[in-house]
Amino acid sequence: MAQIIDGKAIAAGLYAEMAAKVEEYGNTYGRRPGLYVIIVGEDPASQVYVRNKEIAAKKVGMVSEVIRMPESTTQQELLDVIAKLNADNTVDGILVQLPVPKHIDKDAVIAAVDPHKDVDGFFGMKGGFTVKKGYVAPCTPRACIHLIKTTGTEIEGKHALVVGRGELVGKPVATLLLNENATVTIAHSRTRNLKEIALTADIIIAAVGRAHLITGDMVKPGAVVIDVGINRGEDGKLCGDVDFAAAADRAGYITPVPGGVGPMTIAMLIQNTLDCYLARVNK
Ligand code: GUN
Repeated sequence: MAQIIDGKAIAAGLYAEMAAKVEEYGNTYGRRPGLYVIIVGEDPASQVYVRNKEIAAKKVGMVSEVIRMPESTTQQELLDVIAKLNADNTVDGILVQLPVPKHIDKDAVIAAVDPHKDVDGFFGMKGGFTVKKGYVAPCTPRACIHLIKTTGTEIEGKHALVVGRGELVGKPVATLLLNENATVTIAHSRTRNLKEIALTADIIIAAVGRAHLITGDMVKPGAVVIDVGINRGEDGKLCGDVDFAAAADRAGYITPVPGGVGPMTIAMLIQNTLDCYLARVNK
């Protein structure tokens, strides 16, 4: 039976560590890190997400504000707000909550954020299999790597299988695993022999968004299984991409859904804000 990787407890530990650092750095550098989240429109789910980001930032003692703009906001008005935040020295992290309304060009908005304040890590990942030096990596992929490391598993030299090739998780997490010197395979919906490949993987990251795609018989005994999926199962309950009960019988370590990667994502956003702040105050 696998050990459960408790994302909630690990995130709580990180928040406590970061709160101590924010206080210490605040005293050293004369100001605390600042995270600014922009939301355009009224999407209820997005409203909850941005509120949670603000709460997390404030919990560790950061300065944080949600800038709420109406659905009718023009692209230029949004770009003007971003330009103001870019120019403000007390702003370390800028996050524009996605999706933005259809009349706004998402790519133009992402490109307008100062790369040194891009706490989503979009800029850091531009250009393929690399994390640009001096920039942060995206939150969810970072969360995956952190969770693997908490198990004491060495990533170097291991075979890591990433199932899913999305821009937000699959590709960037494969890059981070490569940076940790894993041998990385990226599987996806057209992969023919998934089970055969999975059975050779020491680490499986499931990020496809299909309930129970990873069955227990695909898991090599002792493997570390990180489940990024959030799906609604047939019973209406939240479930991941991994058949948890069956996989837990064989894995060494496994993340649950909910309570695994999910709680870590915002913790990593706060970590990214702290990293951006440190890079800026240390210049
Ligand atoms: N909307 C849903 N998830 C995300 C995220 O990670 N970053 C941003 N900017 N918007 C989101």
